[in-house]
Amino acid sequence: MSKLLLIDDEEPVRKVLGLYLRSKGYEVITAADGKEGIELFQQESPPIVLTDVKMPGMDGIEVLKRIKQISPETEVIVITGHGDMDLSIKALQLDASDFITKPVANEALSVALKRAEERTETGRVLKASHEYLRQAEKLIAIGEISDKVAHEIRNPLMVIGGFAKRLRKKASLRLGEEKYAGIIANEVTRLESFMNDILLYSGQIPLERKELNINKLISEVLLLFDKELTQRGISVSTSFGESIPLIRVDRKKLGEVFINIIINAMHSMEKGGNLTVQTEYIKEKIPNTTRIAISDTGKGIASDLLDKVFDPFFTTKTVGSGLGLTVAREIIRRHNGTMAVQSKIGKGTTVIVELCPECRVLPHVEKAGTSVKL
Ligand SMILES: Nc1ncnc2c1ncn2[C@@H]1O[C@H](COP(=O)(O)OP(=O)(O)OP(=O)(O)O)[C@@H](O)[C@H]1O
Ligand SMILES: [Mg+2]
Repeated sequence: MSKLLLIDDEEPVRKVLGLYLRSKGYEVITAADGKEGIELFQQESPPIVLTDVKMPGMDGIEVLKRIKQISPETEVIVITGHGDMDLSIKALQLDASDFITKPVANEALSVALKRAEERTETGRVLKASHEYLRQAEKLIAIGEISDKVAHEIRNPLMVIGGFAKRLRKKASLRLGEEKYAGIIANEVTRLESFMNDILLYSGQIPLERKELNINKLISEVLLLFDKELTQRGISVSTSFGESIPLIRVDRKKLGEVFINIIINAMHSMEKGGNLTVQTEYIKEKIPNTTRIAISDTGKGIASDLLDKVFDPFFTTKTVGSGLGLTVAREIIRRHNGTMAVQSKIGKGTTVIVELCPECRVLPHVEKAGTSVKL
């Protein structure tokens, strides 16, 4: 049951409105003037306040101001007299959720209450999601996250994300609230992908292997970035090896590996450059190997940082989780492949992925990633 504080100096009004509100399921507390109202508000913290505007002593506008100072998210509905347009506007400017005119029509009151209820609900979701995100980020930051915890976070995150998206579509939202709902939806998406990375990294998501043409997969990934690469002044050269046997891999996860590598390459070429993608089938190597090399002409990686690029959370970017290469290497390792990074500062970077068509039987590769200074 929702608490509601009703402030009005006229006793009959308090009685009649009180009865009506109780019949609507509210737990009603009443005050006979502004001062008593503020005191009760501080003691009871009701989410909704209904206040008369014209009262001796502290008037409704002052009550509204004080309540908003104490608790901005409280919904205050102001009751004004007929023709008090100036006061009504003033109330709205002071962030009243609504105004209704005296004598109060039940219908107008119930519409105003419904809107206020919706807003308090909005406020609660916004507050809860914010707290949730803060907690999740803290947990992740201190590295105390277990697979179970990751799952536990992922499910409510989906719910919060879903509600935030629904909130954005609500017609009754105020401008600021729509923005907040948008921010929450975006942050939830970011955290979801982060949690996915963690689950992937910890081996919680099984591989779904299917036969795949690696050249086709890479072409498709490149196509995703077609526009962005052009916009960034990056040209693409490809050299696809012929007769590369189909390979049994998890298409989605392998796609993510190449997406990560290409995004890193794009980030490194701030002033444009060239992205080269080369695939070849190396029969001389045992076991037979499909080699994919992705090179950029970007800023390169300093030799003392090269060893760290696969470390979880290592990043030199302001907005980067530092999990991109960590997760990519783990995916490749689980395909029994290898991943290596070669780089020279100021010249560029090459990432080499090696997979083998028969590698289902390959023994476990201890160190699947290496970084080499050129
Ligand atoms: N092609 C590249 N050129 C230059 N530096 C690179 C390249 N690829 C990776 N790095 C360096 O390695 C770091 C780690 O890369 P990784 O992909 O793991 O994380 P990230 O890109 O920083 O963040 P995200 O989690 O968003 O991918 C980068 O911050 C960057 O310093
Ligand atoms: Mg990255």
